[in-house]
Amino acid sequence: MLKNLKNKKVAVLSGGMSGERAVSLRSGKRVFESLKSQGFKVVQLDPKDGDLTQKLKKQKIDIAFIALHGKYGEDGTIQGLLELAGIPYTGSGVLASALAMNKVAAKYVFRAKGVSTPNFMILEEDNLDQAIGKIKRVFPFPMVVKPFSEGSSLGVSIVKDPDQLEAVARETVKKFKEVFVEEFIAGKEVTVGILGTGQKAEALPILELVSKNDFYDYEAKYTSGMTEFILPARLVKPLYEKTQATAIAAHRALGCRGLSRVDIIVGTDHTPYVHEVNTIPGMTDQSDLPAEAAHAGIGFDELVLRILESAFEK
Ligand SMILES: Nc1ncnc2c1ncn2[C@@H]1O[C@H](COP(=O)(O)OP(=O)(O)O)[C@@H](O)[C@H]1O
Ligand SMILES: [Mg+2]
Repeated sequence: MLKNLKNKKVAVLSGGMSGERAVSLRSGKRVFESLKSQGFKVVQLDPKDGDLTQKLKKQKIDIAFIALHGKYGEDGTIQGLLELAGIPYTGSGVLASALAMNKVAAKYVFRAKGVSTPNFMILEEDNLDQAIGKIKRVFPFPMVVKPFSEGSSLGVSIVKDPDQLEAVARETVKKFKEVFVEEFIAGKEVTVGILGTGQKAEALPILELVSKNDFYDYEAKYTSGMTEFILPARLVKPLYEKTQATAIAAHRALGCRGLSRVDIIVGTDHTPYVHEVNTIPGMTDQSDLPAEAAHAGIGFDELVLRILESAFEK
């Protein structure tokens, strides 16, 4: 496989139009350098710079390595463009990407396939008064208010008191339109990298995240020293294995290909609750998935190759 790949020209796609542009550029640069040092013909392209399809054709690109995060990168749109252009690309296809990007759509799939995920209710914009009233009556506090499709904890709030719900719900709906509430899960926050596809998907070592803030919010994610990383996570063996199995089940339920990173809270009831799947996890020197891979003895270059090979998995 590798020998065949070396004659191919690879475009690393990074940057893009989402709020995670800066992280994506860092991921892309590191992937680009790894591929280059391994002898590939490789270029770095940014979808923000104009007609991507034309550039891919003009530069005779054989494979796209997608290192984009968020909207227009991780959500199935670039994947659709590459499908139409007939260029093999790394990672998940159109449907899995779109499902994972929409937390509520993903939760419906998890429910249908028996993957545990926190209970939730949708805050319908058209019927906001009624929705807030109903949630106050039937949904347990504390709860988490969050947009369907954001990242980096943007718009995520924990509401402890019924009196706070109204204001937080209105503000979040105003800003993000599609919003839901989710049961707050007390427990250990972990993230599990997955490599491979379908029956062959395997879990990397589990990383535990201990935030110095109330939860793993924007500040905790992007300020050094605000989060403690524990690898491997402090979970007793049966629970560790159950958590890895749950992460694989989530990856497979959405039909993810090649790689993903599954965010889980292991509840005090010993249930691993999946709250989201990231189909294009960060690849910077600070990112979770490469750290987990390294702990499993998979160096960055090998990780990049395994992801590159996913472009040819069905
Ligand atoms: N149901 C929940 N219970 C407890 N904490 C949660 C829950 N959902 C999210 N959080 C906290 O909020 C953070 C961001 O939520 P997440 O669903 O991962 O959104 P994002 O896509 O913005 O990362 C999580 O890392 C976690 O710390
Ligand atoms: Mg998350």
